[in-house]
Amino acid sequence: MVGLGVVLDFIGCKSQNESKNKTQNESKMEIIKENFGTTAEGVTVDLYTLMNNNGMIAKITNYGGIVTSLLVPDKNGNIDDVTLGFDNLQAYLDGHPYFGCIVGRYGNRIAKGKFELDGVEYKLATNNDENHLHGGEIGFDKKIWDAEPVENEKGVGLKLHYVSEDMEEGYPGNLDVTVTYMLTDENELKINYEAAINKPCPVNLTWHGYFNLTGGKENILNHEMEINADKYVVVDETLIPTGELRDLIGSEMDFTSPKTIGSRFDKVPGGYDHTYIINKSSSEIDLVARVYEPTSGRVMEVYSTEPSVQFYTGNFLDGSLTGKNEIVYKKQSGFCLETQHFPDSPNQPGFPSTILKPGEKYSQTTIYKFSTK
Ligand code: GLA
Repeated sequence: MVGLGVVLDFIGCKSQNESKNKTQNESKMEIIKENFGTTAEGVTVDLYTLMNNNGMIAKITNYGGIVTSLLVPDKNGNIDDVTLGFDNLQAYLDGHPYFGCIVGRYGNRIAKGKFELDGVEYKLATNNDENHLHGGEIGFDKKIWDAEPVENEKGVGLKLHYVSEDMEEGYPGNLDVTVTYMLTDENELKINYEAAINKPCPVNLTWHGYFNLTGGKENILNHEMEINADKYVVVDETLIPTGELRDLIGSEMDFTSPKTIGSRFDKVPGGYDHTYIINKSSSEIDLVARVYEPTSGRVMEVYSTEPSVQFYTGNFLDGSLTGKNEIVYKKQSGFCLETQHFPDSPNQPGFPSTILKPGEKYSQTTIYKFSTK
C-alpha cells in the first residue's frame, strides 16, 4: 500500500495544474499536462501523465512520442518504473538509443539505405554503419507531435499526430500519422497507429520501449520469456536479412515455452537482436510474447496485429547513460519487444509487403498488458 500512498499524494499535488480529471464515480483516472522543457529551436515540449484506477501511470511526452515512465504495481502492490528513460527533456535531446519512442517511417533496417519503387531508386540516410535504421537521422522519435488528451469508458490516453512531408528523410509522399496511447483499467498500455499517404512508400511503424520488470533493481537475464514464434528472420553480420526464415524449435532462439532470457545467452553472440515471426495467419490481434519476472511477480503480455517482433536485449547499452532514479544503463539493463514488419522488406520480394499506397489505410494495434502472479 506504500506505493498507492505515493500515487494519491501525487494526484493531490498535480491536480492544480492544467488537467483533465475524471472524478465522477470516484474514478482516479486522470491526465495531467506539464511543461517538459524547450528544444534548442525554442519549441516547448509537454509531458502528459496518465493514471488509471489501479494506480498504474504512464508518462508520455510529445517529443518523439516517448513514454518516459511506466509505473506498474508488483505482486505486493508496490509501484516501480518498468521502462528505461530519463526524467528530463535535455537528456533525450542529448541522444539516446530510442528509449520509449515512436519509430518511423521504417522501424528496423533497410540495407545500404536504398530501395526501388515503381522504377525509381530512393536513397535514405545510412545511420547504422552502411545501413538505414529506424527512419534516419531525424526520424519520428525526434519529431514534435501534436498532442490531444483523450478518454473513453476503458481508459485515458494521448492522441499524437504528425505529418511527415514528401521526401522527409528521403521517403516519398506526405504521410499523415496518428498514434494513440491508451492506459486502460485492465492495466494495458494500448498503442494504436493509423496512417495515410499520397504516394506509395514503405511504412513500418513501431514503439521502442525498453522494459525491466524488476524496476531496474537487477538486469533482465532472469526474466522468463515466452515468444509465440516458431521461426525467425536470419540476418547477416550487419543485421540485414539473408531472405531465409528459419525454424527455431529446440535452438537457443526457442522461447515457445518460458525460458529465462539468460538461459542460453552464451550461445547467442552479442545477445538477442532478432526478428521473431509470430505464429498467426491473419492481421487480427494475437499473442506475441509473455514475460514473467519472479522477484516482483510482474507479468507483461504483448498482443499485436503485426507479423513479427524484434526481440532486443539492450546489447548496445554500455554504461554511458544514467537514467531515472540514478540507474546506470548497462548491457542487458532492459529488453525491447518491438512489434513490426520484417527488416529490409522493401528489398526482399519474398517478405510481406510494407508499401502503403494512396487510398489505403495503415493500421496497427499493439497492447502491453501488465498483471502479477
Ligand atoms: C533496435 C535494433 C538494435 C539497436 C536498437 C537501438 O532494436 O534492432 O540493433 O539498433 O534498435 O540501439
